Amino acid sequence: MVKRVSVVWMAMYCLLCWGFAEPAQAQHAAGHRGAAEKGMGILLVAFGTSIPEAQGAFADIEKMVHAAFPEVPVRWAYTSVIIRKKLAERGQILDSPAVALAKMMEEGFTRVAVQSLHIIPGAEFHDLRMNADAFTEMSDGFEQLRIGYPALSSTEDLSKAVDAVIGILPKERKKDEAVVLMGHGTHHPANVYYEAMMYRLQQKDPNIYMGTVEGTPSLDDIRAMLLERGVKKAYLIPFMSVAGDHARNDMAGEEADSWKSILTEAGIECVPRMKGLAEYDAFAKIWVDHLRAVMDKMN
Ligand code: CO
Repeated sequence: MVKRVSVVWMAMYCLLCWGFAEPAQAQHAAGHRGAAEKGMGILLVAFGTSIPEAQGAFADIEKMVHAAFPEVPVRWAYTSVIIRKKLAERGQILDSPAVALAKMMEEGFTRVAVQSLHIIPGAEFHDLRMNADAFTEMSDGFEQLRIGYPALSSTEDLSKAVDAVIGILPKERKKDEAVVLMGHGTHHPANVYYEAMMYRLQQKDPNIYMGTVEGTPSLDDIRAMLLERGVKKAYLIPFMSVAGDHARNDMAGEEADSWKSILTEAGIECVPRMKGLAEYDAFAKIWVDHLRAVMDKMN
């Protein structure tokens, strides 16, 4: 009996010690970094765009992120060196992910959720991942850093993206009129997501096509499919986060090698749409969902 009571007291004593020790340790850890400690932060990472109108799409995403996590400060980075150089010439300074993370470390953030605003997990995403991970290994580096996947990273994402695309189709479009999406495309193995998207889209509507500028399916592939189906009119829609340079020039430009010119030449009337995916809430929500998944793991 005496023995049992003392075990209970021992346990209670330990619990008490542990209970008091916990905040003291936390205080010590905070003190180590100084008064500037900021805790949790979000870094949004896009490829970037030099077109001022297209930057509005990023502002929309930031609004959604603020609404979802009102307490957490948000910072931005662009992965494209060329875009950052172009903007710097105009006096607009955008950081690379590495510089943005270094600044966040300096500001006193201890936990960072990095959200990729890319479409597929291609080269840009893998480089981001490699560089961001390094920030947890430095002395005084982040205690925690997690990276949210790009928009298309799972079968579930494909379903969400397909639904988002179906939701933004021009209301005036007739069933025999095609929709041609223009993705970026890449030499990276993640290019397969574009082919997967076409498969999933065509299950819902066989007259929607997914082409890419730099990968497969190519415009030649798409043109052959359109001609075989006897399509006379097509809506051209950028399948990129913003309607930037590729949408303006490669898709809808007046040059002879634009998609619009090549398809028009093939006898297909083209109606381009100049809005990026980030401007549609249903699509932007996929990125915010990925960020939420990462934030949930960090709390
Ligand atoms: Co490009």
